[in-house]
Amino acid sequence: MSFVIAVDGPAASGKGTVASGLARELGLPHLDSGLLYRAVGRALQVAGGDPDDAAAATETARRLDPHDLEDPALRTREAGEAASRVAVHAGVRAALLDFQHAFAAQEPGAVIDGRDIGTVIAPDAPAKLFVTASPEVRAHRRWLQLKDQGVSLDEILADIALRDERDSARSTAPLVQAKDAVLLDTSEMTIEQAADAARRIVEAAR
Ligand code: C5P
Repeated sequence: MSFVIAVDGPAASGKGTVASGLARELGLPHLDSGLLYRAVGRALQVAGGDPDDAAAATETARRLDPHDLEDPALRTREAGEAASRVAVHAGVRAALLDFQHAFAAQEPGAVIDGRDIGTVIAPDAPAKLFVTASPEVRAHRRWLQLKDQGVSLDEILADIALRDERDSARSTAPLVQAKDAVLLDTSEMTIEQAADAARRIVEAAR
C-alpha cells in the first residue's frame, strides 16, 4: 500500500508549507487539494457563474482538468473565497474524488494537504497531521502573502473567520481533526520548527 501523508488544517495554518517540505524531503509527489476547489471557483467566476449554484458548480468541477493547477490567479483572495463556497456542494466534492484517490494511490506514496484528506479522501493513511495556529497568527501569515493585493490585516482576519465557519459547518466533509491525526499547533513555531515537528510525527508513523 502506498505511504500517504495526510495534512489537514484551516486556512493559513502552515499545512501547505509543512506538506511541501515533507514531500521534498521524502521525494514524494505533493497535492495541494485546495487548488482543486480554487480552480472550480475561479472557472465559475470567469464564466460569470455563481459559486452558490450547486448544479453549475458541480458541472464546472466535472469539466475541470485537475492536472492544470498552475494559474497564479488561483492564489488570490477572491479565488479562496470562491473555493470555500463551491466546496460546500456535495456534487463538487464527488467530482474531485477520483483524481484525489488516484493521486493517493501512487507508489511509493504521496503527500496531500487539505481539509478532509485524513477523514474522507485517505482515511487509511498511515500518517495524519492536523496543522493549526491561532486565527491572529494565521491572518498575519496570509496578510504577508496578500498585502501586495492591497488587503488589510482586519479584512484577512474577517475572511479567515468566515472560511473557518464555512469549512467547519458544512455537512459534507467538514473540516475536523481525524481521530488518529496528530495535532501540530504552529502558532509559536518558525517554519523550521514546524518542519522538524512534522518530520518526527511522520517518522513515528513509519
Ligand atoms: O487550502 P486553501 O485555502 O487553498 O483551500 C481553499 C478552500 O477550499 C477552503 O477554504 C475549503 O473550503 C476548500 N477545501 C476543501 N477541501 C479540501 C481543500 C480545500 O473543502 N481538501
